[in-house]
Amino acid sequence: EKGSFRHFMEKEVHEQPESCQRTFSAYLDPVAQSVRADIKAGIDFSKITRLQIIACGTAYYAGSIARYAFEKIAGLPVDVEVASEFRYRTPAMTPGTLAIAVSQSGETADTLAALRWCKDQGLMTAAVVNVHTSTMAREADLLWPTHAGPEIGVASTKAFTAQLSALLSLVVCAAAQRGRITKAQEAHYVQTLLESPGLIAEALGMNADIVRMTYELSKARDVIYLGRGDMYPLALEGALKLKEISYIHAEGYAAGELKHGPIALIDEKTPVVVIAPDDDLFEKTASNVQEVAARGGRVIMITNVPGKVPTLSGDAAKSLKVIKAPDCDPFIAALVYSVPIQLLAYHTAVHKGTDVDQPRNLAKSVTVE
Ligand code: M6R
Repeated sequence: EKGSFRHFMEKEVHEQPESCQRTFSAYLDPVAQSVRADIKAGIDFSKITRLQIIACGTAYYAGSIARYAFEKIAGLPVDVEVASEFRYRTPAMTPGTLAIAVSQSGETADTLAALRWCKDQGLMTAAVVNVHTSTMAREADLLWPTHAGPEIGVASTKAFTAQLSALLSLVVCAAAQRGRITKAQEAHYVQTLLESPGLIAEALGMNADIVRMTYELSKARDVIYLGRGDMYPLALEGALKLKEISYIHAEGYAAGELKHGPIALIDEKTPVVVIAPDDDLFEKTASNVQEVAARGGRVIMITNVPGKVPTLSGDAAKSLKVIKAPDCDPFIAALVYSVPIQLLAYHTAVHKGTDVDQPRNLAKSVTVE
């Protein structure tokens, strides 16, 4: 039931501190400050040479975000591909590859077919799924469940952050097993992950600011999302969420790609959502904000360091809106910044009066091609 919420999506967005916490409990041991022994016993990442993540839609973006962390922290090469392409292109697989299907439902036709294909190639397979009795859960060699609970809204929210919670926990597992981090570093990463439900709760406090900002957004015909590093796939997820429920055309780009084409789209009618947490890439993203503003673009910047946002003058200054996000370690930024991204889409759709939980033409689970 929706309780006091207007839509299941709104309720599910607000459930994320608990759904992520539940997922972490299945992977992390808060007392030992390490990845749980049963998770470590189920896999040996030191024997794995490459990950092949396969998924569709939002699950694909969760996999794409995890890729950055698997490569950076665990030193493990990762390919991520949408299942509908992967399954039909005869990919060249190398021995020692672990194929990971990521899926809320565990029934998505393309992801399931891709998983079966990997199995047929003799690869070890794993499924990160929210429905623990699903076909993928049954057929994969390894089951890595997410604990989002039933997700009713067609637009995936809490399942997405539960996927991130599970995958980031597995990054720590892989880094430890591959000797990339010390015990003390493992404890630090575990602690950082366990802090994220509190920060997600804090991020929900951005709601009122976002309600105010989305009235204008709901009048737009096109919206651009920009991010760098793992905020790039989060920008893609933000654009997907907005498209799905508000029917506004939205595109996500790697911020560094702006000059290579998308900047031609910038005008005063096209809002640009910039996701810019305080990390090594902040200055670069901030300079993209200046480029957009200088061309009359209206920027909505989501950042935890509003003080570092470049000072703009004249009309550019007026068109810049900053949403203050909670401070967080870059390792969990994707989890924390998912919240404003979801709320932006949600409130824009509410302003437009669309059917948020059952958007036109979409099904919760795509079990046919
Ligand atoms: O059940 P799955 O996670 O496999 O579903 C994959 C996509 O169909 C799903 O994420 C879709 O993109 C959602 N509507 C996103 O909000």
